Amino acid sequence: MTHSHTAPPAVAEQTRREEELVERVLRSFDDCADPRLKELMQALVRYLHGFLRDVRLTEEEWQKGIEFLTQVGHITDDKRQEFILLSDTLGASMQTIAINNEAHGAATEATVFGPFFVDGAPRIELGGDVAGGAAGEPCWVEGTVRDTDGRPVPGARLEVWEADEEGYYDVQYDDDRTAGRAHLFSGPDGEYRFWAVTPTPYPIPHDGPVGRMLDAVGRSPLRAAHLHFMVTAEGCRTLVTHIFVRGDELLETDTVFGVKESLVKAFERQPAGTPTPDDRAVDGTWSKVRFDIVLAPAGN
Ligand code: BEZ
Ligand code: FE
Repeated sequence: MTHSHTAPPAVAEQTRREEELVERVLRSFDDCADPRLKELMQALVRYLHGFLRDVRLTEEEWQKGIEFLTQVGHITDDKRQEFILLSDTLGASMQTIAINNEAHGAATEATVFGPFFVDGAPRIELGGDVAGGAAGEPCWVEGTVRDTDGRPVPGARLEVWEADEEGYYDVQYDDDRTAGRAHLFSGPDGEYRFWAVTPTPYPIPHDGPVGRMLDAVGRSPLRAAHLHFMVTAEGCRTLVTHIFVRGDELLETDTVFGVKESLVKAFERQPAGTPTPDDRAVDGTWSKVRFDIVLAPAGN
């Protein structure tokens, strides 16, 4: 018997059945009264079925996927948001941020929010200390806040938060401490300055299903060292971002894809004994970094 080059009838029938199911599921949303919801649901069905059919998902794999998502749900509570961690590690958070923070003039780029922001962090004055007792090498941070026309933005609220040199945020200790977080306001010329600690790398929470997924695929849970900022000002688009440390070897493999070249800054290490900008006495080395922030207009 010779082989035919046209698809055997069984294959054609199989394709017809699969496509017919997709069409039927798509049509089930036809009467949705909310056009955006309809668009989202139909696109989701199209991509989901495309995925299932492309990879020829086995029933065992489907079962494993359901078990994985169930574990993601079970570990999630008010403090632990494993679904966001999953979104972060699949790059879905960064893609959503990119779509929603369009490039606008020289506006500073946004990056992931992360799970460790806390509302109501203490206020410090210009030149104050964000560390609040967090262990680490002192780091002097300064810059200006401007709009995309280059005008200084006075009174901008800067929320700053970071892990200590052990790689832990205050909220990861069980002693209710507040450290490594504060807010301050830019001065009359948009200027700001504060002490913090030089950022060091740390892993995302990896004792749950997302950590097991990273392990199974041979990925590290480590984030590149960074210092978080959220900057808000009247008439400006809120900026959620961080700055990264030039030379950090994790810049290429940040596990949540948060690194952008424009956010990588020189943290210049100063030898012990170097006078500090505000004459604060520091034992040992310290570092300094400049981060000039540009805010897009609101609604952009
Ligand atoms: C963080 O930078 O704090 C972070 C961001 C995304 C996931 C986990 C941690
Ligand atoms: Fe962080």
